[in-house]
Amino acid sequence: MDVNEKIKHIEQQIESAVADVKSSKSLQEIKMRFLGKTGEISSLMKNMRDVPPEQRPSLGKLLNALRQWTEEKLDNLESGLKEIELKRKYAEEKIDVTVPARDFPDGAYHPNTLIRNELVSIFAGMGFEIFEGPEIENDYYNFTALNTPKDHPARDMQDTFYLAEDLLLRTQTSAGQIRVMENKKPPIKILSPGKVYRSDDDATHSPMFSQMEGLVVDRGITLCDLKGMLDEFAKKIFGENVKTRLRPSYFPFTEPSVEVDVSCFECGGKGCRLCKGTGWIEVLGAGMVNRRVLEGCGINPDEYTGFAFGMGIERIAMLKYGINNMKLLFEGDTRFLKQFKD
Ligand code: DAH
Repeated sequence: MDVNEKIKHIEQQIESAVADVKSSKSLQEIKMRFLGKTGEISSLMKNMRDVPPEQRPSLGKLLNALRQWTEEKLDNLESGLKEIELKRKYAEEKIDVTVPARDFPDGAYHPNTLIRNELVSIFAGMGFEIFEGPEIENDYYNFTALNTPKDHPARDMQDTFYLAEDLLLRTQTSAGQIRVMENKKPPIKILSPGKVYRSDDDATHSPMFSQMEGLVVDRGITLCDLKGMLDEFAKKIFGENVKTRLRPSYFPFTEPSVEVDVSCFECGGKGCRLCKGTGWIEVLGAGMVNRRVLEGCGINPDEYTGFAFGMGIERIAMLKYGINNMKLLFEGDTRFLKQFKD
């Protein structure tokens, strides 16, 4: 084939390659094939060496013209293709801001969580710090150190799940009091929320429930401090007009011990179904920390005194929200739970 024919041939090849090029990527391959270092036009140029010198200038012109023609053709095509591709990309990425948003059903806090958060914020506002003790406890922390040794009749008040001779699921968050007092010297002001376990199951009891414990130890703490703090707490959680009263009671780890009632926030104290006609509702147990408990933790009871209190979170939730069966708090039925959406 003579050079002119070769040039014609290459031109035809380029025309037909270009005819069905669809993307700038495949155009790139064509560029390499004809214009690349080892491409067809370059190898023709390399063959110039074999051409007689007098023919070289005219052949050089022809080949340069071919190269220029090819470059222009392919460059034009490339910018056309790029423009099309960009338009297509923009079209694909176009966001229709008028499409309605997908609806994410949002959850609600569980009533227990609502009450716990509320209690934490009330007591944190009074300067209490949070301490969370372990749910699996030694007999010592749950009972003995709380002035409830093995033969103490008060152990019968709480049906305990034992895991081993000395290991149990804590029956009360009071166990945390000991852990705090062993590790921290007064002044102590802690709040301890958490799960507790008892072998008990009916409309107002569950084998697992939650308590909130409080402990204050310092010089000169009296029952008046407890009463003042409880008044504040009752107003914040049940309403401005609610009052508290203390009734004598018994817990081994407090002396004196009290049961705390709030005036009925439903009827204002006149007597209704909620307060069973009495005008008062029992909400928690409390008392002055028994000096034997302080002593056992290495705190001098002649120098320091303290008060403690413990309440059931489910009980507070049931009272506050008018929930009549504790099971509702454990079943996770969304028809019940969604009523607590803010
Ligand atoms: N731990 C007691 C219970 O579970 C509640 C309680 C009563 C806690 C009196 C206290 C307290 O801190 O002083 O029944």
